Amino acid sequence: MDVLQELETRRQAARLGGGENRIAAQHSKGKLTARERIELLLDDGSFEEFDMFVAHRCTDFGMENDRPAGDGVVTGWGTINGRLVYVFSQDFTVMGGSVSETHGQKICKIMDMAVQNGAPIIGINDSGGARIQEGVASLAAYGEVFQRNITASGVVPQISLIMGPTAGGAVYSPAMTDFIFMVKDSSYMFVTGPDVVKTVTNEQVTAEELGGAGTHTKKSSVADAAFENDVEAIAEVRRLVDFLPLHNRDKAPVRPFFDNVNRMEASLDTLVPDNPNMPYDMKELITKLADEGDFYEIQEEFAKNILTGFIRLEGSSVGVVANQPMVLAGCLDIDASRKAARFVRFCDAFDIPILSLVDVPGFLPGTSQEYAGVIKHGAKLLFAYGEATVPKVTVITRKAYGGAYVVMSSKHLNGDFNYAWPTSEIAVMGAKGATEIIHRADLNDPEKLAKHTQDYEDRFANPFVAAEKGVIDEVIMPHATRKRVCRAFASLRTKQVQTPWKKHDNIPL
Ligand code: HXC
Repeated sequence: MDVLQELETRRQAARLGGGENRIAAQHSKGKLTARERIELLLDDGSFEEFDMFVAHRCTDFGMENDRPAGDGVVTGWGTINGRLVYVFSQDFTVMGGSVSETHGQKICKIMDMAVQNGAPIIGINDSGGARIQEGVASLAAYGEVFQRNITASGVVPQISLIMGPTAGGAVYSPAMTDFIFMVKDSSYMFVTGPDVVKTVTNEQVTAEELGGAGTHTKKSSVADAAFENDVEAIAEVRRLVDFLPLHNRDKAPVRPFFDNVNRMEASLDTLVPDNPNMPYDMKELITKLADEGDFYEIQEEFAKNILTGFIRLEGSSVGVVANQPMVLAGCLDIDASRKAARFVRFCDAFDIPILSLVDVPGFLPGTSQEYAGVIKHGAKLLFAYGEATVPKVTVITRKAYGGAYVVMSSKHLNGDFNYAWPTSEIAVMGAKGATEIIHRADLNDPEKLAKHTQDYEDRFANPFVAAEKGVIDEVIMPHATRKRVCRAFASLRTKQVQTPWKKHDNIPL
């Protein structure tokens, strides 16, 4: 009986982490504890803990007298809507969640198991960084985690929740994961903190301005989404996991759906305005195509000229990439290319089909774009689409001009189904620009120029030239788009592609 009692006593002590006072301090910052977060993340009662009694081995600075059970991180596995996931959750109440040799080993253990058993890794980060008392042993622990992030990349989905400080080299583990979610006002990520920044560059900046959720979702694009509090962020991770396969040889789950596959959407026939320069909201098209109108957007606050995220069609996950005419007329720029390229690569790595909705007038001109390397960054999206072997269905709603036409999952990049609405204009460029080049001699004759422009529009401002050449498979009615796209993806479920052997590609990073 005594040993049973001892187990229970030890468990209770471990569950208390850094103790009541530090738990209260954590709560007073609006943050949940490591265990509360896991409880919310996983299905009720599904959490199985590993290494609850692991303690550090440091004997410097009197550390041998302070060896809390668990060593500042709670690890284990459980389920999200019945599906296996591995999780680690740093416990800020224990030495600030700092990473010791043994803390790192606990994380590595569940990462190894996740890869071997083929299930996502969800990391909850809330840590003061490397355990200062341990020196290089702590850096080594980070290094071991980094290597596992790299090995796991493309094998199992990796999701990071940033729910407190994440600073210095510690940011590079989440940075290599597939998705990063932050919590507003209580989380930050930076390589060097405000004090170092002040010393080196003389810039005065708060932690929030330097690396808060706003900075990383709107400016740097390091994070994919920001939420009001821990509870909301965790709920959204559960939703995201539902869209994903458990590993790269698994299929994303097919969910029951309560929507008609053949649903006609008459309103789509008037979505594209008569005036080609008038914007419209591409999100409306996405939600009207999706099962039950559900669109899980990724990087909503960054590069709003392109939309990325997940929907379901007939219950199956589909990644959507769509130009947004409401922002910068939907043109591609560096930020949009990077955002969409990473999303396309994620979908391809995890066998999630890709739907591309195209209304793109071209790449954004300007010195700022050229100097910052729009050539290389634009090539990322081109490359990502071209290398993707998952089912690819494309619908051109209006403009598909120039290089951007080719980039956006065109037939030439092995698009499987390339549809166009009757409102499509597939051309090297817009009519005005084109006539001003072809008919330069008539530049000072507005009447002639207008006629040339009209001629060009009659010839190219439609999908039929492209359809005659077979680079558009079919011109479809906007109202029937859901039905056509669902049928297309259904027919591609058995798609197989052979590619030549290579060690790996050399995407223009
Ligand atoms: C050991 C640490 C610690 C750390 C915090 N603690 N960070 N212990 N190593 N890195 C301890 C504190 O001593 C304190 O212990 C408890 O955790 C809570 O910390 P507070 O400072 O009281 O909390 P708060 O005021 O909220 O400030 C949080 C903080 C601050 C901003 C994170 O603690 C801090 O600046 N810590 C040091 C950060 C740092 O420089 N880390 C190394 C970064 S370099 P008590 O017993 O008093 O409660 C790095 C490199 C990684 O991480 C490289 C990877 C390759």
